[in-house]
Amino acid sequence: MDSKKTVLISGGAGYIGSHTAVELINAGYDVVIIDNFSNSEKKAIEGVRKITGKDVIFEEVDTCDKAALRKVFEKYPFDTVIHFAAYKAVGESMAEPLKYYQNNLVSFMNIVEMMKEFNRPNVLFSSSATVYGEAEKLPVTESTPRQPATSPYGNTKQIAEDILRDCCRAYSGLYGIALRYFNPIGAHPSALIGELPRGVPNNLVPFITQTAAGIRECLSVFGNDYDTPDGTCLRDYIDVVDLAKAHVAAVDRMTEDKMKEKYEIFNIGTGNPVSVLELITTFEEVNNLKLPYKMAPRRPGDVTAVWADTSLANDVLGWKAERSLGDTLKSAWEWEKNVRGI
Ligand code: WQD
Repeated sequence: MDSKKTVLISGGAGYIGSHTAVELINAGYDVVIIDNFSNSEKKAIEGVRKITGKDVIFEEVDTCDKAALRKVFEKYPFDTVIHFAAYKAVGESMAEPLKYYQNNLVSFMNIVEMMKEFNRPNVLFSSSATVYGEAEKLPVTESTPRQPATSPYGNTKQIAEDILRDCCRAYSGLYGIALRYFNPIGAHPSALIGELPRGVPNNLVPFITQTAAGIRECLSVFGNDYDTPDGTCLRDYIDVVDLAKAHVAAVDRMTEDKMKEKYEIFNIGTGNPVSVLELITTFEEVNNLKLPYKMAPRRPGDVTAVWADTSLANDVLGWKAERSLGDTLKSAWEWEKNVRGI
């Protein structure tokens, strides 16, 4: 194993982690996946193996368990860690803030501490557009001021960004990149890996695919009285395979010593605002079906609109979202059908 070409992926069995593992392997990296399966399935690792035709190293480890994590660092040489392992349900984080602060921050601090202890240089952190809140100016650039977080989940993303920035500043051998994802959707074209939320989905696209599959009766559109062209919220929906490729570009930048600053931030989105109704219509068109949906009150905490200025990622990482919204929504439905045996 070449340490420069080996990447540790925490949460590598999760939705974005598994897609990123595939793209890293396709780009010639070796990956070591760690996951505790608190919100993911072992089948995802099988999916990565099937898609890539490569054996994937995998250890069942909770990133909050420092002793177990240390063993992983002792066992494998890798210069780079991508840290995905985290809880991600905004609503749950309001009800159980300690669970979120405990898990999401302790796991991340353990990672950074081990990087320091073992003199490993590169940390890639999975951040979120949620740090921008209701921005004054759209699209948001990386220098758009962050707004106070409206949920403990969002706060863990902001605090972890700050931890990484401060540690990169303080520790000479440490470099960090935070990728701020907009709304990741879709699945791998093979339909072997995808998003598999437990219980009732919080996010729009899994709710749509479950409704199309007959698991949910009807989709509620949360609010059609927003100050937007059709009254529904605007988001920047980014294909998960495109998103995974952004990680490869960021890892390349770190391992090829191309970073200009010790800590860098990139928006990862398409740059196109899409409304809830547009997304529903596109889903219906590309998959040739009708979706039962109804208008419903606004969901507390939702921002009216947010989408990315992606020029920094385009210019500096040489990365650009490629897949069309239609193709992405087709892949989401293919995956749901595959999972449900439809
Ligand atoms: C998108 C749009 C809803 C469900 C959240 C997190 C963010 C991120 C991704 C997570 C909104 C509307 C939704 C439904 C609806 N990170 N909607 N009916 O809220 O933009 O972002 O998920 O890991 O941090 O905040 O995404 O998919 O929940 O909602 O009308 O049943 O769809 O109101 O306008 P959101 P989402």
